[in-house]
Amino acid sequence: MPGTNRQLDGALAALLARRESHGKLRRLTKPLAHCVDFSSNGYLSLSTNLEIQEQLLARLQARVAAGAADIDRAAGSRASILGSGGSRLLDGNSSFAEEIEARIAAFHRSETALLFTSAYDANTGLLGSVPQPGDVIVYDELIHASVHDGMRMSRAGRKIPFAHNSVSGSRPGAGAEAGDGRLGRQSENKNLEHVLGQLSGREGSEDVRSGKANVFVCVEGLYSMDGDVVHLQKVVDAVDRCLPSGNGYIIVDEAHSVGVFGDDGRGLVCKSGLEDRIWARVLGFGKAIGCSGGVVLCSSTVRSYLINYARSLIYTTSMPFTSLASIEVVYDYLVSGRSKPLREHLEELIHYTHCQLRAICARQRPGQLMIRVQEAPAVSPIIPVLTPYPRALAEHCQRSGFMVRPIVAPTVPAGSERIRVCVHSGNTIEQVDGLCKAIEAWVRQNHGAVERDERRDKSKGLGEVTKTHNVLSQDRPRL
Ligand SMILES: Cc1ncc(COP(=O)(O)O)c(C=O)c1O
Repeated sequence: MPGTNRQLDGALAALLARRESHGKLRRLTKPLAHCVDFSSNGYLSLSTNLEIQEQLLARLQARVAAGAADIDRAAGSRASILGSGGSRLLDGNSSFAEEIEARIAAFHRSETALLFTSAYDANTGLLGSVPQPGDVIVYDELIHASVHDGMRMSRAGRKIPFAHNSVSGSRPGAGAEAGDGRLGRQSENKNLEHVLGQLSGREGSEDVRSGKANVFVCVEGLYSMDGDVVHLQKVVDAVDRCLPSGNGYIIVDEAHSVGVFGDDGRGLVCKSGLEDRIWARVLGFGKAIGCSGGVVLCSSTVRSYLINYARSLIYTTSMPFTSLASIEVVYDYLVSGRSKPLREHLEELIHYTHCQLRAICARQRPGQLMIRVQEAPAVSPIIPVLTPYPRALAEHCQRSGFMVRPIVAPTVPAGSERIRVCVHSGNTIEQVDGLCKAIEAWVRQNHGAVERDERRDKSKGLGEVTKTHNVLSQDRPRL
């Protein structure tokens, strides 16, 4: 290896070592085969659905047979299955891709749809290309990294966060509905209405007031770490009130809410009947839909614009037949209404799991020392269990046969570390009971020792950082 490479490797290794010393080193892990899935984003368990798998296989076989027939007829080369052959703008387009887009648009009651190879690409393509210099992007402070990356690419003049899921009200800096039984946190950011009011007020921007500059408001339908749902009607009302010139454009990332909400899984925007009020939607196929890829739902003008300017569409190989076929068979399944019982079972599990977790909190009275679960009923399959010891709790659950993962800063704000319990249509009540039993056993085993540590630390006058981290040293912050 040339010397310069060794030098660079040395510098990178030092950065990794620093990250490890902060307890933040990321490593690839594999799902444990013996574990029940309480972790993945496949909320409807569609990727393991036998009927869908058989449909996909039949479609692939039909394609192979059709390709062979083409060759027999000397109609040219065999139809491709493995790769699309290029960018959508070159050899990677097909009637099949366009048909699927038309079906997806119709299903979600949108004028058009444009496929991307992932929802990450859809977000970066949309936000990276549409906002022009002088425009403003206002975004929920917990918005997904792909929206942040799109904003970085964007030429928008200003990008302003607002307090998480906090639209209006007298407490402009209170995030996540603090005080109503949810896991509220204090945010340094103002609520959406406050931010928009400042932008369009007398002290704000003349271009925004006059409607010359556009304001894009970015929210998620279902937030993947807190499991809370955006107050979409309130967002629409705030935009109407604060931007009466009509220059407010709402973008909803439905990566986690598609499949889960709305008739046949049409998503939150359709469930709320706000299709005409949302400027663009980004859907992901990698979560409840059980495939991979993403799509932007938008007007035909926006679609043409993205085809011309979205770099993540133009400069990448488009989806292969296998991906398109898997999306198609899942949409066939949704359109047929067969996913309805899955959503009904999911709803039952969400309610049951939340009640069981709250019951543990009540029985063990661990206060805020060991676990915290929001009081308000869970509204989605994502139920965060906050704990200062996410790694220890996750490891205990995994050893007990239940896959949950620790979520630590910077993925979530420091102080709100957690395990993220995700329930799926494929889970059973007995599995939920097993998981809750494991969590309760862990609380019982450890919370006496943590309380002892707490008392000792208090008597020694130790500060916030070291207290309570002695017993479960795996989660101890390393400074
Ligand atoms: C809210 C949100 N948007 C977009 C994405 C990106 O989705 P994809 O995995 O399709 O790139 C994710 C994935 O984690 C997400 O959680």
